[in-house]
Amino acid sequence: MRVVLGVSGGIAAYKAASLCRLFTEAGHEVRVLPTQAALRFVGAPTWEALSGHPVAHDVFSDVPSVQHVRVGQEADLVVVAPATADLMARVAAGMADDLLTTTLLTATCPVVLAPAMHTEMWLNPATRANVATLRERGVHVIEPASGRLTGTDTGPGRLPDPEVIHAEALARVGERAHGEPTAAGPWAGRRVVISSGGTREPLDPVRFLGNRSSGRMGTAVARAARDLGAEVTLLQAAVEVPAPEGVRVVEAVSAAELEAAVAREFSDAGADLLVMAAAVADYRPAQVSDSKIKKSGDSEGLVLELERTPDILAGAVARRDAEHPAGDERAPRPVIVGFAAETGDDAGSVLDHAQAKLERKGVDLLVANEVGVEKTFGQDDTTVHLLTPDGGATTVGPTNKDEAARAVCAAVTPLFG
Ligand code: CTP
Repeated sequence: MRVVLGVSGGIAAYKAASLCRLFTEAGHEVRVLPTQAALRFVGAPTWEALSGHPVAHDVFSDVPSVQHVRVGQEADLVVVAPATADLMARVAAGMADDLLTTTLLTATCPVVLAPAMHTEMWLNPATRANVATLRERGVHVIEPASGRLTGTDTGPGRLPDPEVIHAEALARVGERAHGEPTAAGPWAGRRVVISSGGTREPLDPVRFLGNRSSGRMGTAVARAARDLGAEVTLLQAAVEVPAPEGVRVVEAVSAAELEAAVAREFSDAGADLLVMAAAVADYRPAQVSDSKIKKSGDSEGLVLELERTPDILAGAVARRDAEHPAGDERAPRPVIVGFAAETGDDAGSVLDHAQAKLERKGVDLLVANEVGVEKTFGQDDTTVHLLTPDGGATTVGPTNKDEAARAVCAAVTPLFG
């Protein structure tokens, strides 16, 4: 596919270098169009080396090939990252004063803009109006991420991670090519339910018991399944990362809500795959107070009574086994994947515990990762062990969670009946 990567003049221009690589490594031909201001942040040699093509920013270079219209006409996808407030204003106004804006004016393919700017600029009514105009015209403007900006300020305006922009941009092409968000692929037609994040068990209207899960792994599995063409429902407990575009999101924050959501979306709906990546609390407060629990005058401590939560995974396996006994050829047996967060201890290694859990849970694939405060939770890199009941054990990583998620999906494919 011919991808035009526009880069406008903001400090986040350096992140577009990673985005460029994601496209070229996936086999796409990338033409980078930096604006003149962008070249003050990242120079032409970087773009030329990464894309393997010369770069130009004004309409007077290579005039004989009429490139100010040709580049846009020939593109299959145009992505601008970062898209500054100024760039979006120019595009919204239909201006054509450099090669990137002439390209945007001539492109008939999907156009994706990934804005990056300070929060005040993003929230300014002029920018809001420009974004609204662009979206009305079918341009896909990605929501900026929130977080630390250049300088000391924080808020919405950060350029999303290159992986996020890459996935959202590819999803646009899938939508165009097939008329719906699910692209064709080896998992086309498969319905997949994935839980992610950490449950929150309410104590009173303002407090809960929670855990450190960020939802990155479940989200990565959702993205990988979507990219394989599956129809994905992502059940989100408390998460720190946005859902990938093109997946259906169902919020299910407590263990009780998640149990109901799994029953409805996976078991009742007859879906093909359940991936329980959520970190579900094993215990919850036995009583949930209707009003905020007050400090009681002279007592030094507070004793909470906890009760066990339902084992959602075990429940889903039991129901699947009852409805689809092993060896019954009449209908394909839904596949169930469990996760295990393990630490080695005196009783055994991470793998020993994982093996025991695989058998106890009756899942078709157990994804075990080693946890600790510095490991896995909220981190981008992970090492996972993939265990199957036939004794198969594969270790993947350390690698990023997208790569690990693709490995999980690759291990699931042969399990579909
Ligand atoms: N799980 C679940 N319902 C629970 C607890 C966990 O569905 N109430 C799922 C998780 O989503 C995960 C797997 O079960 O897929 C984890 O199994 P579990 O035995 O709970 O492992 P740990 O939480 O690691 O706890 P422990 O080792 O103490 O049993």
